[in-house]
Amino acid sequence: MNNAISTSNNSFTATLQDLIEYPTSGILSKVLLKDKNSQYSLFCLAAGTEIDQHTSTRNAFITVVEGTGNLNLEGKDITLTPGVFVFMPANAPHAVQAQENLAFVLALSEKASVKDGISQETINIVKSTAPVIKKYGQQITTRMYEIMFETYPEVKAQFDMSAQANGKQPTKLANAVYGYATHIDDLEGLKTMIDKIAHRHVQTHVLPEQYPIVGECLLKAIKDVLGDAATKEVITAWTEAYQLLAEVFIKREQQIYQTVGH
Ligand code: HEM
Repeated sequence: MNNAISTSNNSFTATLQDLIEYPTSGILSKVLLKDKNSQYSLFCLAAGTEIDQHTSTRNAFITVVEGTGNLNLEGKDITLTPGVFVFMPANAPHAVQAQENLAFVLALSEKASVKDGISQETINIVKSTAPVIKKYGQQITTRMYEIMFETYPEVKAQFDMSAQANGKQPTKLANAVYGYATHIDDLEGLKTMIDKIAHRHVQTHVLPEQYPIVGECLLKAIKDVLGDAATKEVITAWTEAYQLLAEVFIKREQQIYQTVGH
């Protein structure tokens, strides 16, 4: 039997009926195709199999190839028969029961963006810290670079260290963080700033995996400088907000890296 698993993004055709293979009980799944954003699998459930209620952090759809069953999606029962297509948004609780042998394709799409999940409460907390960020921004970013260069000395090579010493880089970062605090719900308004920084990041070979480092050091610096004013709520909100900003930069930088052919 052809296993029909493709690991590349090349065109790929499969006749699903030929791939269907039921276990005597439970589930047999085959990954048809997987890339860094999506995954397409064929699921074959033996009659009587139940998948307990669960959630996924990714948007997904299923499309039934053969058999019958029931999908409970957010408390609503949907009859599964060949040809039925169901879209399941990220985080929606769902459970499956196979009445007969049941085969369906499950597609998991790109991971949900932080932006989709950022709450109004987080936005409010971040915005409420804007005056404090304005006042202590330079101190926070100076401390953040201190922590970063001490903990991760390997990143020093990417920075112009004279711009650190004369405070120019901490000032730029402080302005960017303040701009973000005031515009977290209006990223369009920050487009010019984000673009300029992203280009500089590409010039200095900043990579996606470095964002957690800056995030960790920035949050530590916020705690150090603000002390008790950095409440648990403030730290939680800024952790989430930083992830969103990092995601925005990473996406933009990915586009620039592609156009400049890195
Ligand atoms: C959301 C997080 C970040 C923000 C808000 C931010 C902000 C900035 C700003 C405002 C500049 C100055 C741009 C200019 O000169 O016009 C800059 C430059 C730079 N950033 Fe970031 N950055 C972030 C993440 C990172 C990360 C993860 C790295 C990786 C270590 C990084 C490394 C650099 C470097 C190497 C420069 C150039 C500095 C120089 O010219 O000496 N940044 N960034």
